Amino acid sequence: MIKLFSTILLSFCCTLELISQGIDNENFVITHGPWLQNLSSTGVTIIWTTNRPAVPGIHLTEPEGINRFIRNSHDGIIDGGGMLHKVRVEGLKPGTAYSYSANSVQILKYQAYRIYYGDTLAGKVESFTTPSPEAEKVSFTVINDVHELSGKMASYLRNGNIPGQDFYFFNGDMINFLQHTDQLFQGFVDTAVFYFAAKKPFFYIRGNHETRGYVARDLKRYFNFKDDRFYYSFDWGPVHFIVLDAGEDKSDNNRYYYGLADYDAYRLEELEWLKKDVGSDAFRKAKYRIVIVHMPVIKAENQNRAMTFMSESFGPLFRSADIDLLISAHTHRNAFYDKDKSGFGYPVLVNSNNSFVEVVAGFDGISAVVKDIEGKDLFSYKIK
Ligand SMILES: [Fe+2]
Repeated sequence: MIKLFSTILLSFCCTLELISQGIDNENFVITHGPWLQNLSSTGVTIIWTTNRPAVPGIHLTEPEGINRFIRNSHDGIIDGGGMLHKVRVEGLKPGTAYSYSANSVQILKYQAYRIYYGDTLAGKVESFTTPSPEAEKVSFTVINDVHELSGKMASYLRNGNIPGQDFYFFNGDMINFLQHTDQLFQGFVDTAVFYFAAKKPFFYIRGNHETRGYVARDLKRYFNFKDDRFYYSFDWGPVHFIVLDAGEDKSDNNRYYYGLADYDAYRLEELEWLKKDVGSDAFRKAKYRIVIVHMPVIKAENQNRAMTFMSESFGPLFRSADIDLLISAHTHRNAFYDKDKSGFGYPVLVNSNNSFVEVVAGFDGISAVVKDIEGKDLFSYKIK
């Protein structure tokens, strides 16, 4: 009995000693990702998280077998020290396939004059292809209003044509609100990574639900947006894409915003940017112009504040700019407005919370197929 007691006491003391030395038994691991963001013909941003603080880097292999190791720095200091890692890779060639792996060097102790490193974690080798400006076709999928029900998104992706897609749009309300960052991971990011996001990028469009909750202000930290804005444009193959942010749905003075909403001013700022974009060479020279925005921009009665604002200010601008298609979400219903039915002379496709849109823009116009959560065709449209 005395021997048993001594053994228990000894193991208890050893455990205490290990804890006092800061040693734990949890392995250093990647907890989420990697996911690709803001892929262009010359650059990409790769994001992942680890369970311990680390210094991130990317091992990149070019098609000729040349290896590069990339770390980012800001103000002379190499990025690192946190558990969320974001590395921008520049200097890529258009229309080229690259393989990469995320590299994380654990930081055990970080003091002014002494830094201790732990394990180095080499992530799985993944690959991506940069778009070519000469591409005559682009294929993409639009997913929206998942509201953290990642299972239905997984069901669609399991049955979908992932190899045939160039990229994905997440067109808002992917979460209910952002109070904890786990909502992003469990809500849709982990599912996206499992199926495609380490190889193909997604472009995340802010919906009204993404503006809510304490962590909503940190949304940009977990993704990478062109020009660090929620509204921007980019070109892929024959299409000039305009991505917009409709903001919150209700008036800024709504009591549930508690005096913290300023969306009318924000949308006006966005409108000024949009006027410049539709006057740009990229917009005018593109074969097709497609707008992606969470809320439909149509002429209709009894719309919420954001939709009224967008309808009055953005609708006439899109009409005079002659856009080819506007894709939206928010209403949780499927709808298609022909160009003579939207009120502004352009077609509008509204995708529901239980369907997914696969779009191809190529030689002979734009085609869109709306599919259900099992990947079966619901509706198909031929535009232009
Ligand atoms: Fe919404």
